[in-house]
Amino acid sequence: MSLFEIKEQMDALVKELNQHNYNYYVLAQPTISDFDFDKKLKKLADLEIQYPEFQNADSPTQKVGGEITKEFKTVKHKWPMLSLGNTYNEQDLRDFDDRIKKAIGTDFEYVCELKFDGLSLSLTYENGQLARAVTRGDGTQGDDVTINAKTIHTIPKRLKGSGFPDEFEIRGEVFMHRPAFDRLNAERIENEEVPYANPRNFASGTLKMQDSSEVAKRPLDCFLYFLYTDKRLYRSHWESLMAVKEWGFQVCEHNKLCKNIDEVYEFIHYWQNKRFDLSYDIDGIVVKVNNYAQQQELGFTAKSPRWAISYKYKAQEVETILEKVTYQVGRTGAVTPVANLKPVLLAGTVVKRATLHNANEIIRLDLHQGDAVLVEKGGEIIPKIISVNTLKRNADAQKIVYPEKCPECESDLIRKEGEVAFYCPNDEGCPPQIVGKMQHFISRKAMNIDGLGNETIETFYRNGLVEHISDLYILNEKSDLLKRMDRFGDRSITNMLDGIEKSKQMPFEKVLFGLGIRYVGETVAKKIVAHFKNIDSLINATYEELTSVDEIGGRIAESLLEYFQEPKHLEQIEKLRQHGLQFEAQFKVVELASSKLEGKAFIISGVFENYSRDELKDIIEANGGKILSSISSKLSYLVAGDNMGPSKLEKANKLKIPIITDDELLDLIK
Ligand code: IVH
Repeated sequence: MSLFEIKEQMDALVKELNQHNYNYYVLAQPTISDFDFDKKLKKLADLEIQYPEFQNADSPTQKVGGEITKEFKTVKHKWPMLSLGNTYNEQDLRDFDDRIKKAIGTDFEYVCELKFDGLSLSLTYENGQLARAVTRGDGTQGDDVTINAKTIHTIPKRLKGSGFPDEFEIRGEVFMHRPAFDRLNAERIENEEVPYANPRNFASGTLKMQDSSEVAKRPLDCFLYFLYTDKRLYRSHWESLMAVKEWGFQVCEHNKLCKNIDEVYEFIHYWQNKRFDLSYDIDGIVVKVNNYAQQQELGFTAKSPRWAISYKYKAQEVETILEKVTYQVGRTGAVTPVANLKPVLLAGTVVKRATLHNANEIIRLDLHQGDAVLVEKGGEIIPKIISVNTLKRNADAQKIVYPEKCPECESDLIRKEGEVAFYCPNDEGCPPQIVGKMQHFISRKAMNIDGLGNETIETFYRNGLVEHISDLYILNEKSDLLKRMDRFGDRSITNMLDGIEKSKQMPFEKVLFGLGIRYVGETVAKKIVAHFKNIDSLINATYEELTSVDEIGGRIAESLLEYFQEPKHLEQIEKLRQHGLQFEAQFKVVELASSKLEGKAFIISGVFENYSRDELKDIIEANGGKILSSISSKLSYLVAGDNMGPSKLEKANKLKIPIITDDELLDLIK
């Protein structure tokens, strides 16, 4: 290779690795395995040692991590948030141990910890209270996500016991347990939202959300693993961990004090398989020299401490053959490619299918029929194809081409601007869409119709009994036809018809969610109902009115406008209304109108456990009160929830305006 080519290769590696860093840290959507990333990084680092004259100032070997997002206040870390050196094999670990012995002799201990696969967070406590929670960001400065961190139950807002300094920092990892991830991701899939690839991305996406009440609904957890104080309080890392546990922090129970590197190996081997029994993901083990004086002696490199290292477990991967790609049409018409694989054993389960996400993924992998593909099962539920072994490809192998027509109904597929998925626009005539929409309508989260299941819907559709959701409400007129169908006894017919009848009482938000409008999930449906109160105001709402509602962005507003523009949709709504379904918000008893708040003016601020701000506003207005837009002397009460902005509080205090809770507001109208 010429020198010119070497420089070009190094620059290309810098560009590629920086992009991967950006995908990982900023977008929280990595497209490369950690192993491959580290391999490339090592290659670049080796080249930089060999050809220092070609080292690029932008090189990721010179930086700690990604960049910072724009939405939160940026805070500089008092102590930089460093990363750890990685090893994937025992020899590297032995070299690490040798380096340490050379520097400090043989009289030392290690602390072995699990390497949690989440995102690191730095917490500052002042006088025993949580003052700040900051993400790692680029290692030097990160995002202030205090408001969101406060929703995490295992992060103490106020410390227990005594002995903690007036001010200190503690660092740890925020993560989501796998069962919670599976449940919430299944909900996202049901709501046609893009699912998260793994719990880490879900946790990271959650911590960076703008609405902390939404964060509170997504259970995050946190293990703390490092204490920073101005004055050294304890002799060792282990002692610090014991102390912080007493102050109320969650420290992982699996940490182990090891006398030598052989005990470290034991720990590594034990967790190699045992890690699959944990309820959360770990991607390796962290090994730290225990004694602080020895840590100090060992010091740091530009990027990481010399006294700690991480041993990473390899994601499990296996090669198999791509038999064919099939396409699934979802209820909103999105066409998703699925790789059908020659069955192969991977991480204890037989893998037959892998997700391909969308058309871009087929292009990225340049997939061909019969390709030998490398399948990885990392943190994801569904395995994914990470690469193709092109050396094994037959010369005449057919390229996989994403179809132009719907595989179910032959309609021309369309792709909306800014979206990666292709859609079948034939929502009224494409069988999986028709069936999918009805199945969604009857599902537990929507109308929750007893006695009616997905298979029954499919059978009814195939037999011409139902084609639209409104047809469910005339099934009672077709009992003769029902009785003639296989497997339908009188009991099950009565049960089903009872269930359908009962569903007429389901609240408006469930009906709205059940209609299956794209991007209108459960939460959005609730917000819409709280704001618009009835279907007519919603149908007539403009783009501006829609986007003025909390949490309704342009994408949702456009989807709603498009939905209500379609006469067939309006016809369905009218039919459902005729059948007696709820298209108006039901009010809670407490909201019953009175004039008890007449002449009083309110502002609602912060997040409330039992009510949305819109609901509280309705309660006030239903009882004669007024809502003001800014704090002034005209204000009678400030109704304050959690996480209210400090400036509002200060202003209200200055004007001596009474600050009340939501409970106290309800007391006023009792
Ligand atoms: S200690 C200077 N301990 O791994 C020491 N880190 O590659 C800093 N991590 O940014 C970290 N589990 O996000 C430490 N038990 C553990 C950890 C851990 C996960 C993450 C952390 C850090 C990254 C370093």
